[in-house]
Amino acid sequence: MTEQPKGELVCKANEIQPKQALRILIDDFPVAIVKDSMGEIHAIGDTCSHADISLSEGEVEGCAIECWGHGSQFDLRSGEPLQLPAYDPVPVFAVEIHGDDVYVDFTNVLNGAEAPNFS
Ligand code: FES
Repeated sequence: MTEQPKGELVCKANEIQPKQALRILIDDFPVAIVKDSMGEIHAIGDTCSHADISLSEGEVEGCAIECWGHGSQFDLRSGEPLQLPAYDPVPVFAVEIHGDDVYVDFTNVLNGAEAPNFS
């Protein structure tokens, strides 16, 4: 018996090319679904922790995404900024891939970032 995936189906894996990001809204909370340079998919809070800029509009390099606002890069696995001016992490959510389906568990924040308050 196959195990049921945890979380919500958010997209198909092949909808996102490597080094690209897809912005989605979950209960008005913006989330970036990002495919890194190696093809691995991550789900992070889309709003930069420094100011109100969408991270999914930034460039993906390796396993990091760069905020176009002031250049902070965020590690897609840890959510941590790799340099100033941002110094707080963004939330990282648990991702499961089943076939070509991408599921994100928005109740499971993997890092120490503040969890969004979903209704
Ligand atoms: S808004 Fe992202 S680094 Fe300033």
